[in-house]
Order: sequence, then C-alpha cells, then structure tokens
Amino acid sequence: MKTLTINRPDDCHLHVRNGEILKTVLPHTARQFARAIIMPNLKPPVTTLAQALTYREEILQAVPGDMDFTPLMTLYLTSATTVDEIKTAAASNIIQAFKLYPAGATTNSDSGVADIKAIYPLLAALEHHDLPLLVHGEVADEACDIFDREKMFIDTYLADMVVNFPSLRIVVEHVTTTEAVQFVQNAGATIAATITPQHLLFNRNALLAGGIKPHYYCLPIIKRESHRLSLVAAATSGNPKFFLGTDSAPHQTSLKENACGCAGCYSAHAALELYAEAFDQAEALDKLEGFASFYGADFYRLPRNSGTVTLEKNAWTVPSIYGEADLSITPLKANDTLFWKLV
Ligand code: DOR
Ligand code: ZN
Repeated sequence: MKTLTINRPDDCHLHVRNGEILKTVLPHTARQFARAIIMPNLKPPVTTLAQALTYREEILQAVPGDMDFTPLMTLYLTSATTVDEIKTAAASNIIQAFKLYPAGATTNSDSGVADIKAIYPLLAALEHHDLPLLVHGEVADEACDIFDREKMFIDTYLADMVVNFPSLRIVVEHVTTTEAVQFVQNAGATIAATITPQHLLFNRNALLAGGIKPHYYCLPIIKRESHRLSLVAAATSGNPKFFLGTDSAPHQTSLKENACGCAGCYSAHAALELYAEAFDQAEALDKLEGFASFYGADFYRLPRNSGTVTLEKNAWTVPSIYGEADLSITPLKANDTLFWKLV
C-alpha cells in the first residue's frame, strides 16, 4: 500500500467554537495536528488576554487524554482594542497574533473593524511588538459582487497596509483567487497566506451546479476553476509563503441546511486526508510536508514539531454526520469517498 509519512503538521487557521460543539470537533484536529492557530470569533469575541486564557483552558479540557495538542491563541482586533492590550498580548507568550475582520464580512464579524484606516495606530503597535496580523481579506461592501470581494480588499486596503507597515507580518487568510496568490507572491517575505482544503479541491460548481449545496458555502466563497488551479499551483510550489490553514468552521447542520445558511465548511474530521487528495491529484505529494508542517511554524517563528504522522492510500467513506442530535455537524465530503487515510 502507498504510504506517506510527514512531520507532525500544524493547522494555521482553525475555528473550534466553545461549549458542546468544541467537544465534538477538537478530537478531530488533535489526532492529526500538533498545534492550531485558534480563531477568536466566538460570541462574544475573544478580545482580551484574560478571555484567551479562559478559552485556551476550555480547549485543553476537550483534548482527549491520549492526545498531545497545543492551541495557539489569537485575539480579535476591534476599533476598541488599545495599544496597551497589544503590548500585554505580545509579552504574554500566549497570544500568537491578532485577527482583523472587516465588520460584516463573515460569521461573527459584527465586532469587526468598520474603518480600517482608523486602526492604523494598532497596526503600528503590532508591527512594533512583532505580532502577526491575520486578515480576513474581503470587503463587506454590499455593492461589491461576492465573487470580487477578495480582490477589492487587496486593492483597497491590503496594498496600502503592506506599504505602510513594511515590517508587519501579515497572513492573508484563506486566499481564494489568482489575484490574491499573485499579490502574496509579489510581496515581501513578511506577507504569507493560508489555503483551505475546499478551495484546493472544489470550484463553485460544487456549490451551485445541479442544486445548491450549503455544505460547500464558506467565506470567501469558492471561486471558478481558474482560481482553484492558481491555488493548487501555489500550495504545491514549495513557496514557504503558502501554508496549511483549514478554516474548518463547524456549524450545526440545521443552520447550514437553511433558507439562509451560514458560512463555513467543516473539514477538521479529515483535514490532512483532504489536503493529501489535492496534492496527490497535482502529483505533488512530496510538497505536502513543507506546506503542512514547516512553513507555517517558520512564519510564526515557532519550533517545528517533532514526531510524524502517516497517511496511507486506502479508500474510506466519510460519515454523514458527527455529533449528537441538534448539534450534529455535516462534514465536508459527507457520505463520499476519500482516498487517503490517516493511520
Ligand atoms: O466560512 C467562514 N466561516 N468564513 C469565515 O471567515 C468564518 C467562518 C466561521 O466562523 O464560521
Ligand atoms: Zn476562518
């Protein structure tokens, strides 16, 4: 049987929620990844070091006893964040980064930033304290076509941020377009990007052709095939600016299969297997380890993990749901075949 052994990977963009859902989803991540960068868009958002410490404790409680997993915490940047809070966060060794959501751009982003220029003093503080800024790179402008919102964000905000804060490390999270890939490639070494499994594996036909498929709906929305091909090329290029971040975003099935279904694909159940499939299709399995296990850690200036994980080419069927009753979650590729399996 064909197998692939790589250094233990990190998920550099993960939503695990809190409460009951956390208990369902966290073991899926912990069995594959040594660490994950945890998104702070809870209700209410995680904006202070004290909240992050409480949340971190709750996550650690959900790690099964036989697994070794470290949550890497982030704080939610708001217009009320202070320079002092950034200083405290930087000194903590707990907070790895701040996350910028444009207000209204996505799930739980109402506390996000409406006027990005107005928070430039905060970006200066992040740059000064050498804390990375993680960006949801989409404008929330209702007049902007949903398929153009990433490009509009780059042109309107990101290009200017990069010029104004040349030493600020920025991760353009979940890039979805050729334009975003080119922007990151052409920018300096301080600018990197995460790529999700769904944006590597699917184009917008998966979401919209032959019936609307809510479990393929996420933000930024899945784009046309030419963009998918650019993402695959970037992820498999060996360029350390591009690394693994699933953006696994669990929502209970009833909130996805809904007249107004919410955004987020649940991929944590099979994250590494999904990426392996994408890399295998591109005949680039030899590039998976750098993407999954080295480049993210290097960008965050964390030590690379010790230990390994092994995948084997061995087809299996993804369950239709995970979790109990009302809180059940429909995973990406539910009832479908995956060709790689974590040993
Ligand atoms: O699809 C998404 N879901 N995109 C995001 O940016 C947020 C996430 C969530 O938290 O559900
Ligand atoms: Zn996310």
